[in-house]
Amino acid sequence: MKYQAPKGTHDILPAEVAEWRRLEQTFREVCDQYVFEELRTPMFEHTEVFVRAVGEETDIVSKEMYVFEDRGGRSLALRPEGTAGVVRACLQHGLGGRDGKTLVKVYYLMPIFRYERPQAGRYRQHHQAGVEVLGSQDPALDAEVIDLACTYYARLDLTGVRVLINSVGCPACRPRYREELRAFLAPVLDRLCVDCRRRQETNPLRVLDCKHETCRELTKDAPLMLDHLCDECAAHFEQLRQHLKTLGVPAEVDPRIVRGLDYYTKTAFEVRHAALGAQDALMGGGRYDGLVEELGGPPTPAVGFGLGLERAILARRQAGAADTLEPRRGVFVAALGQQAQNAAVGLLGRLRRAGVRADMHHGDRGLRAQLRQADKRNYARAVLLGEDELRSGAATVRDLVTGEQVEIPLDELAIKLAEQ
Ligand code: HAM
Repeated sequence: MKYQAPKGTHDILPAEVAEWRRLEQTFREVCDQYVFEELRTPMFEHTEVFVRAVGEETDIVSKEMYVFEDRGGRSLALRPEGTAGVVRACLQHGLGGRDGKTLVKVYYLMPIFRYERPQAGRYRQHHQAGVEVLGSQDPALDAEVIDLACTYYARLDLTGVRVLINSVGCPACRPRYREELRAFLAPVLDRLCVDCRRRQETNPLRVLDCKHETCRELTKDAPLMLDHLCDECAAHFEQLRQHLKTLGVPAEVDPRIVRGLDYYTKTAFEVRHAALGAQDALMGGGRYDGLVEELGGPPTPAVGFGLGLERAILARRQAGAADTLEPRRGVFVAALGQQAQNAAVGLLGRLRRAGVRADMHHGDRGLRAQLRQADKRNYARAVLLGEDELRSGAATVRDLVTGEQVEIPLDELAIKLAEQ
């Protein structure tokens, strides 16, 4: 093969599209029920938007972003996540009002680009479905977005999801805790992995979610943010837990949930699935009360999540959430002989204009082979058209499930089939 899709990217073939559509459609339906509206942003933004939002020192920005210069010399980046662009768009179009107090509830479905080392469940282009709520600090909204994600997975018949929540504090309580953690890490610094040695300086909280066994062992008694929250953050976390309980969401507190993006404040959460192996995060998100201001807007508290669609598909397959078969639909015109094929062209036109999903076989092929093809392609009916039918002016319509056949005059066919 001369050309292949770039490493870490995938074609979604026609046979898989039905499942993708179901995932996307279900997400739209659930978001509509929770009264979120769709927002679509460009595939790329000014690089600065992501640097400011996600953080210069994060892996996403420092190692994984696809950055390029356009012909006008501007630095642009393919979006490595959805939130920054959504916030930029809300600000640009004034969606949250001038004081940022009008509640904005939006959702999105979008491809995301990260230059990561590809492995099962980790790609260079993946797709996220996400929601963002801008304009309120009510912990009921943190609970609402987590609940929305759980409803979504339930609608997909995906069982076995684990919801993990934590609080990463705020600018009032985090700096002091960060110093305490740094001090704890200092004596073991030379035994931590290379990445963690760097993180101890730039973002020590991330050392806590390092996957290396040695780092885990060395940090098992590390001080935790949860024990160092200011009163406001502690109250927020407590209320979130209450709301989740009220909603029946079985969330576990995991004090080591630290997200790989710098904008989080207070609530941080993840949904995981054991069937996914090393890349077990189905969804991640949290509150980001400082981001809108960081991007030049008025002080605006916000919360949201992004969930990986490829991982949802993988988890469903692993967990055996069997897909219900697509219903049979449409009409296949099985025409035999040149004359009938010519007539079928006009018949297809009439059927399609009447709103019927219809197709035919082009070229020489026997009737049985054509019917087999119609059956395999999941059509509901076949219209049999040969010289006899043309002469009598009526075609045989066969139900491909029951095998039942009826004669219908050719000039009534479009109307009759459109009614069914
Ligand atoms: P994130 O945790 O980086 O958060 O990504 C969200 C989800 O996208 C992950 O939980 C995972 O399911 C999926 N994902 C991430 N990277 C990959 C990859 N390389 N291959 C396949 N799937 C992947 C964010 O992006 C935040 N913007 C979420 C958010 C929204 N926070 C607040 N609002």
